[in-house]
Amino acid sequence: MTGIRALLVAALVVVALPAAAADPPDAARGEKVFLRYCELCHGRLADGTGRAAPLHDPRPANLRVSKVSEDYKRRIILGGGKSVGRSQAMPSWRAELSEGQVDDVLAYLRSIRIDP
Ligand code: HEC
Repeated sequence: MTGIRALLVAALVVVALPAAAADPPDAARGEKVFLRYCELCHGRLADGTGRAAPLHDPRPANLRVSKVSEDYKRRIILGGGKSVGRSQAMPSWRAELSEGQVDDVLAYLRSIRIDP
């Protein structure tokens, strides 16, 4: 019985560890995610001037001066433009990005934000 209990406790620790060890959001990691998945449309400087920007109407947003909330950004990143009633040219990233990666991208966008 104690053997089984010890095993259960050990199993619980193994399951709980990854969550406890999760790093806080990191802008440097977020930049890598951004350059891989977002640059094409939003541009190297996240100002809405990526290579594919001219293909889209409305244009990809300038994320440096974006006025939408963090919560809204998280929703449009995970669910795509359509999920918030905007252009479906903004893809859903749910299949590619983990919640942690989205937090990293949001940290990166905060770090390059231009406050007028
Ligand atoms: C295929 C082109 C494309 C890619 C790739 C893309 N986006 Fe977008 N994104 C758009 C377009 C177009 C809009 C504007 C939609 C509209 O105005 O209806 C947009 C809008 C947004 C907005 C809303 C900003 C605001 O101020 O309203 C956020 C946030 C955003 N994108 C983040 C991202 C992130 C983060 C990535 C990478 C994970 C990404 N996008 C990749 C095309 C793209």
